[in-house]
Amino acid sequence: MASSVFRSLVTPLRRGGRRQFSSGRKTVTLIPGDGIGPEISAAVQKIFSAAGVPIDWESVDVTPVRGPDGMFGIPQSAIDSVNKNQIGLKGPLMTPVGKGHRSLNLALRKEFNLYANVRPCRSIDGYETLYKDVDLVTIRENTEGEYSGIEHEIVPGVVQSIKLITEPASMRVAEFAFNYAKANGRSKVTAVHKANIMRLSDGTFLNCCRLVAERNPDIKFEERYLDTVCLNMVQDPSQYDVLVMPNLYGDILSDLCAGLIGGLGVTPSGNVGINGAIFESVHGTAPDIAGLDLANPTALLLSAVMMLRHMELNSFGDRIETACLDVIREGRHRTGDLGGSAKCSEFTDAICEKL
Ligand code: NAI
Repeated sequence: MASSVFRSLVTPLRRGGRRQFSSGRKTVTLIPGDGIGPEISAAVQKIFSAAGVPIDWESVDVTPVRGPDGMFGIPQSAIDSVNKNQIGLKGPLMTPVGKGHRSLNLALRKEFNLYANVRPCRSIDGYETLYKDVDLVTIRENTEGEYSGIEHEIVPGVVQSIKLITEPASMRVAEFAFNYAKANGRSKVTAVHKANIMRLSDGTFLNCCRLVAERNPDIKFEERYLDTVCLNMVQDPSQYDVLVMPNLYGDILSDLCAGLIGGLGVTPSGNVGINGAIFESVHGTAPDIAGLDLANPTALLLSAVMMLRHMELNSFGDRIETACLDVIREGRHRTGDLGGSAKCSEFTDAICEKL
């Protein structure tokens, strides 16, 4: 098994032709989030301090504010911070169901054009699940598809929702997937689609993947129907490596894959765009355990590790990841979601001790 699947996100950000993350201390925007967000963010900050990571945090509040158009959205100060730093770490955000402001997660992705969502899923040593050798990465187109937000009611009781698929967005995420595979020593990219039914929309996505595959003959390419992938995934996940897919399929399949390795509490993710990248835990705000020191900070910590590698601070990322996975493997300080009885703070301290 590769020593790390969270190695590189391929495209270190560049400004004026120079790598942005070259040397010296860097500032990262921190969005602690709601519910357990502040607890797990504090855990990550403590672990980063223990490891001596050369990062300064700029903490921002994204509680929605009413804009001039009367709509609620992300405060300008938070937008300015991400624009300035071009890199952020984000805890979970609460979204009211069916009322109030729209999903801030979606708003952040749109605001910063975070077009590729990357989720590595690798079995965690010592934490037993049904599968031992999961080692795959889902790459999800993050800006369009069914999540374009184009819905309307034609007549009462009849609504239409538009699935938007464009060539430029499909090309860039396909290119991202192949570049990711190359940069991370992976050998295969699978395009996941339903072009047999959605011939034009998924057909466009698939054609873009084929075009990019032709330009990357060193990476094996295969095409699979979404339903087939779901079936295969729960029978034998080891047959997959890097998977690239449109937005909705990625949303669902990436959670399925997280389930193979122990759930959302241990699955990191990154949202990468042209002018920035935001790394986030994919679980929610866990209101049932918020404020009780019971949350597992692993997903946010491993997302922060992905972020370090994206910033070319690999040695810090490697050390922190090893310490975290060692503590889980040893089993003495696991949090409740992993079958243990440790508090979030005890798990955090155990990682800091290893560092
Ligand atoms: P949830 O992920 O918050 O909770 C589901 C279950 O998993 C709960 O039992 C919770 O205690 C547990 N859990 C989640 N993360 C955990 C962690 N790190 N450590 C230990 N246990 C953990 O999902 P739910 O209840 O559907 O959503 C609650 C709120 O979170 C909603 O407002 C929703 O909109 C928001 N949400 C935000 C997301 C984000 O910001 N990326 C993603 C998913 C939900």
